[in-house]
Amino acid sequence: MEHKRGQWSSELGFLLAAVGSAIGLGNIWRFSYMAYENGGGAFLVPYLVALLTAGIPLLLLEFAVGHERIGSAPLAYAKIKKNWEWLGWWAVTFVMFGIELYYTVVIAWCFKFFLFSFDLSWGADPNNFFFKEFLILSDGPSTIGSIRIPIFSALALIWAVNWFIVYRGIDKGIELANKIFMPLLLILTAVLVFWALSLDGAMAGLRAYLTPDFSKIAKPKVWIDAYSQIFFTLSLGFGIMIAYASYLPEKSNISKSTFLTALINSGYSIFAGFATFSILGYMAKSQGVEISEVVSQSIGLAFVAYPKALTLLPGGNIFGAIFFLCLVVAGLSSSISIIEAFVSAIVDKFGFSRKKVITIVSLLGFLGSIIFTSQGGLFWLDIVDHFLTHYGLVVVGIAECILVGWFFDLEMIREHINKISSIKIGSWWGFLIRIFIPVVLLIILAGDLYTELRKPYEGYSWSSIIFIGVDWVLATLIAAFLIASRPWNTARRHEGGRADNKG
Ligand code: PHE
Repeated sequence: MEHKRGQWSSELGFLLAAVGSAIGLGNIWRFSYMAYENGGGAFLVPYLVALLTAGIPLLLLEFAVGHERIGSAPLAYAKIKKNWEWLGWWAVTFVMFGIELYYTVVIAWCFKFFLFSFDLSWGADPNNFFFKEFLILSDGPSTIGSIRIPIFSALALIWAVNWFIVYRGIDKGIELANKIFMPLLLILTAVLVFWALSLDGAMAGLRAYLTPDFSKIAKPKVWIDAYSQIFFTLSLGFGIMIAYASYLPEKSNISKSTFLTALINSGYSIFAGFATFSILGYMAKSQGVEISEVVSQSIGLAFVAYPKALTLLPGGNIFGAIFFLCLVVAGLSSSISIIEAFVSAIVDKFGFSRKKVITIVSLLGFLGSIIFTSQGGLFWLDIVDHFLTHYGLVVVGIAECILVGWFFDLEMIREHINKISSIKIGSWWGFLIRIFIPVVLLIILAGDLYTELRKPYEGYSWSSIIFIGVDWVLATLIAAFLIASRPWNTARRHEGGRADNKG
């Protein structure tokens, strides 16, 4: 039962899908508070350095490997070196049965908040509303409590939408969805930005966002944050960009797509930051407090600080609805890319019917997400996210550079890119992949491990950390080895890449 690989109907369709995966929840709230916390405008320096020295080179690598080897991550790696197949499985497994499980729950929250916006249901105390009425948060990760039905039902809807889009196939599903989602997202975000800029206090907010505090960029943490943000935001190390590039036609402008994806993604983050900080500036002004007092981190920024500001704003309900709709749209276009990366890996290896695999994987994903809709869900989310993005991602990044840079013919890949692309890649790329990026990632890994071992993450108990976080990393790794040890059921494994087919 061999199935023909799907294909994008145009390079623009591919570009929009790659941008759709890259632009996600991370661009809207994660980038803003990272920038603020790490020196405002000065953060752009490490951020852009990370983009140029690691983001773009690795994205180029993933696009090129997927395109040249014609396969999802496990297949592409297996075609590079037989016993490295597990690496591809690990990437697609921890992203599908780790990150995706809570990512969809956060999209479900956003959807609920979209509905809440219309009548500003969070009332005068959004903090209390979010934690005590919406999540009804338990006292720690070991108290799971009951499932929150409102979140659970929104989650079911999000999974149904995910399933529907991926089920329709590469060009008629994922490509079409992104062709609608991306322009929509851009228009909605532009409305938010210009609206927010017109508010009283917006300038003070922008000053807080962009005024460089160069004293901060001497700190290693800021650099670590910049590199991990770039990794996360470009969806690198998940096997997603590899799978997406494998659906490109023979003649594709790989390097141009790489630069465009990276540029649009980072441009979007910086742009969306204008809305966030104008709103915070407005809120500080109308309450007569300092900006630093209204900024809250991560989750709190979207679900507490924003709602607070919306209550003060004339027309805040419309603004809020647009804001949360942006999050839903950005989130969905990323979450479908995760499902696709896993599904395409299974289909490549076992040759099962694509549609059946999508249905089963979506059902399993939905079931797996349920734990994050419980009262202890936020704690689980926090722990799983921390371990997978800090360790899974970084380890895969290092291994991928070593595998392709040292055990494979990187020059051949570079020639492949240059033969079909308009922007020619120089030998600097080889240096970055072989030496620079693995070294930087190793430093990040060592830094993370050092902080990890000194005190438990966020003050959780060691047992929760090991039981939830460490086990999640190990379980997906074991699953990866098990799947990799199964025999190939399709002939794809032996098909080779585009470059060697031509002899
Ligand atoms: N790039 C997405 C973001 O910034 C996150 C993401 C992670 C997407 C993993 C796909 C897979 O939100």
